[in-house]
Amino acid sequence: MYLGKVIFSCLAMTLTMTSQVMVSAQDSSTVNPHYAALLNNSMWFYEAQRSGKLPSNNRVSWRHDSGLDDGKDNGVDLTGGYYDAGDYLKFTLPLAHSLSLISWGGIEWYDSYKKADQTGNLQSTIKWGTDWLLKAHPNSNTLYVQVGSGDVDNNYWGPDTGIPTPRPSYAINNTATGTDVAAMTAAALASASYLFGNLGNDTNYANTLSTAAQSVFALAETQPFQVYTNSVPAADNLYQTNNYTSQLVYSALWLYKATGNTTYRDKASQYYDQFNLASVPVSPMDWSDPSGAVHVLGAEVDNSNTKYADAAKKWLDTMTNPSAANAPCVFTNGGMLWCDGYSDSNSMVPLQDTSLLALLYSRLDPSQSSQYTDFAEKQIQYMLGDNYMLTPYVCGIHANSPHNPHHAGASGGTDISNIDTSPPEELHLLYGAIVGGPNKDDIFYDERNDWSQTEVALDYNAPFQGLIAYQISANAADPPYVTITSPRPNVSRSHGLAGWLIAVIVIVILFILAGLGYYAWLKRKALKQRLAGNKEYAVPA
Ligand SMILES: *[C@@H]1O[C@H](CO)[C@@H](O)[C@H](O)[C@H]1NC(C)=O
Ligand SMILES: *[C@@H]1O[C@H](CO)[C@@H](O)[C@H](O)[C@H]1NC(C)=O
Ligand SMILES: *[C@@H]1O[C@H](CO)[C@@H](O)[C@H](O)[C@H]1NC(C)=O
Ligand SMILES: *[C@@H]1O[C@H](CO)[C@@H](O)[C@H](O)[C@H]1NC(C)=O
Ligand SMILES: *[C@@H]1O[C@H](CO)[C@@H](O)[C@H](O)[C@H]1NC(C)=O
Repeated sequence: MYLGKVIFSCLAMTLTMTSQVMVSAQDSSTVNPHYAALLNNSMWFYEAQRSGKLPSNNRVSWRHDSGLDDGKDNGVDLTGGYYDAGDYLKFTLPLAHSLSLISWGGIEWYDSYKKADQTGNLQSTIKWGTDWLLKAHPNSNTLYVQVGSGDVDNNYWGPDTGIPTPRPSYAINNTATGTDVAAMTAAALASASYLFGNLGNDTNYANTLSTAAQSVFALAETQPFQVYTNSVPAADNLYQTNNYTSQLVYSALWLYKATGNTTYRDKASQYYDQFNLASVPVSPMDWSDPSGAVHVLGAEVDNSNTKYADAAKKWLDTMTNPSAANAPCVFTNGGMLWCDGYSDSNSMVPLQDTSLLALLYSRLDPSQSSQYTDFAEKQIQYMLGDNYMLTPYVCGIHANSPHNPHHAGASGGTDISNIDTSPPEELHLLYGAIVGGPNKDDIFYDERNDWSQTEVALDYNAPFQGLIAYQISANAADPPYVTITSPRPNVSRSHGLAGWLIAVIVIVILFILAGLGYYAWLKRKALKQRLAGNKEYAVPA
């Protein structure tokens, strides 16, 4: 196995090197068309995830109006919003997390969206989500957190025209509290409010979002503090967090940035100290825990102290340096950031979330910035094709892109027991969707049924938007996939390695053995000759 892996790696590296990496010079006034297309496609993916009554300009021809009775069971309108992944469930927590990251990247690199002519798409992508969050908070004591039942939905594989019912809706309220989800929702609304009010073109909408953000933050602060799955067990094992502490601080920081009201800055600082967030063990940032984001955002918005910046540096240095004390991540042979327990089911997520925070922090601390930008740029290169599989982990942009995202609607299949083979070819290209990604050996099988590698989800594309906007702002060279002409190395699950590769390995091993044998024979012959004083054949064998 080990030898096979090394030989495989060498072959892949040779392929990478022979596919000539050409760098096209970029004029700073123009936009690299590949990155513009990636931004555009990523937001096309969000359009493919839209629920509710679709507008006539929805770009995804195979999507229909759907989920039109959502909320009826509780007499509220919960139509609209986004389906979470390749299924038809709607969750508030990962949506809010995703919206806050899209807004953050949009705020920092708004000029990139302008250059790429994508500010309209950016605002409509965010608004489709925040409009739904506004509906999900119909009064000050209520926040809807889930639509659809995991059990019902997980037994369905098919198009949006046959979504199974019932689709129950679940809420937290001021007695059955959900601190984590309410806080994350406030963060999403506040970050979007900042974007619409300060960069976009809709201050009325910004005010609406800000008012709702403050209202749902008050709900988050309602005692008892607890994770929302205590109140809504339906979300157990689907989107369950471990704690609510980092979410509370994250939302207070966003509210301070959006409103300028120092009450929120002070609340953030007080919760940060009360929950000891500066010294919790470093772990990856994702929808379940925004601790890493808290340090970086705190360093950005509250410069009245250095505690956030110190923690941000420690977080980044621990995350990006496997030899740091208690480092939770390593680099694979191919150079991908790999965090055990996080990367296993979606390796592109810790890679992207960490890279995004590294880039955001690099803007605040010019003395450290190249260390963090170098890290992030390498990870982006990996993600966009500089890897053993010669694969950009973005659907629909290259022949080697993933062909089998785990997405019922895009697949065209209806047979849940034959997801991989029915139909053999994905019916619709899911442009711009980021898939889970390769395994720790940098191997990607591209199997529709393997959700750990081919799942797509709202939170996979959220950091991607910021990473690509950064690439545009940095005038980055063409993404690696642009010059990849070799097909993806053929790997199959049954053998781990393709038949031809095994044949190559066997031949190589035979050559090595033959070489060793010949070497030993020469040695022995020389020895014989010396011992025999050049009288060949005199020494008995
Ligand atoms: C964005 O995508 C649409 C259709 O999907 C296409 O018509 C448009 O040209 C794209 N724009 C850019 C900048 O790639
Ligand atoms: C903001 O811009 C978008 C896209 O250019 C446009 O559709 C929208 O109507 C504008 N909104 C306002 C309030 O001007
Ligand atoms: C709050 O939610 C709980 C759990 O869903 C529910 O039992 C309770 O009736 C709700 N309270 C109010 C005031 O709606
Ligand atoms: C700031 O926010 C707090 C908490 O919501 C509120 O009580 C206070 O009136 C706000 N201050 C200003 C100046 O708006
Ligand atoms: C959540 O954090 C609080 C404050 O640090 C701590 O007291 C509590 O034990 C934590 N809860 C869990 C489930 O880890």
